[in-house]
Parts: sequence; C-alpha cells; structure tokens
Amino acid sequence: MLIKDTVAIVTGGASGLGEATVEGLVARGGRVAIFDLNEQAGEALSQKLGARVLFCKVDVTSESSATEAVKMTVDTFGALHICVNCAGIPAGAKTVGKDAPHSLDLFKKVIDINLNGTFNVLRLGAFEMAKNKPLNENGEKGVIVNTASGAAFDGQQGQAAYAASKAGICGMTLPIARDLSKLGIRIVTIAPGLFLTPIFKDFTQASIDSLVGCVEFPKRPGKPSEYADLVAHIVENPYLNGEVIRLDAASRLPAR
Ligand SMILES: NC(=O)c1ccc[n+]([C@@H]2O[C@H](COP(=O)([O-])OP(=O)(O)OC[C@H]3O[C@@H](n4cnc5c(N)ncnc54)[C@H](O)[C@@H]3O)[C@@H](O)[C@H]2O)c1
Repeated sequence: MLIKDTVAIVTGGASGLGEATVEGLVARGGRVAIFDLNEQAGEALSQKLGARVLFCKVDVTSESSATEAVKMTVDTFGALHICVNCAGIPAGAKTVGKDAPHSLDLFKKVIDINLNGTFNVLRLGAFEMAKNKPLNENGEKGVIVNTASGAAFDGQQGQAAYAASKAGICGMTLPIARDLSKLGIRIVTIAPGLFLTPIFKDFTQASIDSLVGCVEFPKRPGKPSEYADLVAHIVENPYLNGEVIRLDAASRLPAR
C-alpha cells in the first residue's frame, strides 16, 4: 500500500519509536493520529508537523477512550488505513523478590497496557479499515503493525511480565492475519532489539552498556528512524503478512 494520502494511527506516537514512525509516515505523505497519554509531548509533535497530524489523548487500555479517538480520527481525516501500535511500558521484577513474590498488580498492569492495549486499538482500527474500498489490485484495505520485543524470545531475569506481554503480541499475529485476510487487512509484528528511547530513562549506564554488548553488527543501539523505515516497508510490501520480524542487529539477550 502506498503511504501517500493514507491515514494512520500511531499509539505511543508522542515518544521514541512511535514518534519516529509518526515523522516517517508524514514524510511519506500520510496523515497521522497520535494516540498517547502524554498530552504535552503529543501536542508538541502535532504542532511541529502541522495539519496532517492530530493528537488524541488516549489510554490504550480503555475501550471508551480508544473508541472515541478512532472516531475522531475518521471524522478528521475521512478514513483509516494503517494502525501502528507502539504504546508500551517496561517492567523489572523477579518472580520471587527479596521480601515478597512478584506483585500480581504489576504483572496485570504490564499485560493490560502492552498486550490488551495493543489488541484493543487494533481491533477497533481493523473494523474501520474493513469499511474501505480496496486501494489497489491486491485488494488491500489496511495494514496493522505491532511492536513486540526481543524479550518475547529471550526474556531476561526480571522480565516475566514484560516478556509475557510481548510474547502475546507475537502469538496473536498469525491468528489475526487469518481473521483479517478476507477483509484485505495485513498484520506484521516488529520485535525490536535495543533502541535508546526515553523508555530507558530509569536504566543505569551499566545496564545499557551491557545491552549494547549483546548487539552483533552494527555494534550500536538501533535508531528510531530505522524502526520507522521498517514500518514504512511493511506498509508498502503487500506480501508481508502474519510474520514477526526481529529488528535487532542479531542481538540476543543473556539471562541477566
Ligand atoms: N526502545 C527499545 O529498545 C525497545 C525494544 C523493544 C521493544 N520496545 C517496545 O517499543 C514500544 C515503544 O517503545 P519506546 O522505546 O518508543 O518507548 P517510549 O517510552 O519512548 O514511548 C512509549 C510511549 O507509550 C505511551 N504510553 C504508555 N502507556 C500508554 C497508554 N496506556 N496509553 C497510551 N499511550 C501510552 C507513553 O506515553 C510513551 O509516549 C514499546 O512497546 C516498547 O516495549 C522498545
């Protein structure tokens, strides 16, 4: 699908990988609705990029918040063709800690934002995409891109909740592709390695250095623009569907 003149939602679009995706889609001629909790950063990005970007304050875990924002997107831009899910949070806690077992509330919160939030927005987005007329000879009506993590495969110590949420995103990719095939909608999941975005603001330099040490080649963190370029390629390449793509310069996380 050509990005020019399409309409996209980018959750988590106020920061990091989502922000780069918003910029990448707009640079290719798309219009974008940013769905994010961070009003200040989201509004600032929308102002910077102009009338082709709309900010919607959205909690991806909320059915009513996401429903309202999808409606506002379609009312503003006329349709919806692309849904990129980047909203997510990290979490670090061992299954059994020093004084207590892993907090069940923390586990549920991470699953709720990272996994349930992704599904919440994509199901609403797909329902809108299904209303589109086919955009090309392949019959494409829409594309969904989700964001997992290398932790879905090589979760480290302390990553039970985060890894479970991301493995869920990988696991639902193929069944959703199958569900949506008759509707002309594709879905692909990107599993990023290390990208130095604000998600790492509470990490120590030592733990960041150790993560960079796991990268094979090129031996550096990924650039958010490299994530955005892959999103654009997924949208543009009609034969990518139902797949999880690792974007990690061959890095594999060790146990700790
Ligand atoms: N940066 C990395 O190295 C890396 C690696 C693997 C996976 N990921 C995944 O990529 C995605 C983007 O990460 P990032 O590095 O850009 O992080 P980030 O912290 O820079 O951005 C995440 C954004 O999600 C938003 N958000 C959080 N909870 C939300 C909610 N309930 N509703 C709406 N918005 C919400 C935040 O406000 C923020 O703007 C996340 O899902 C993350 O798990 C990142």
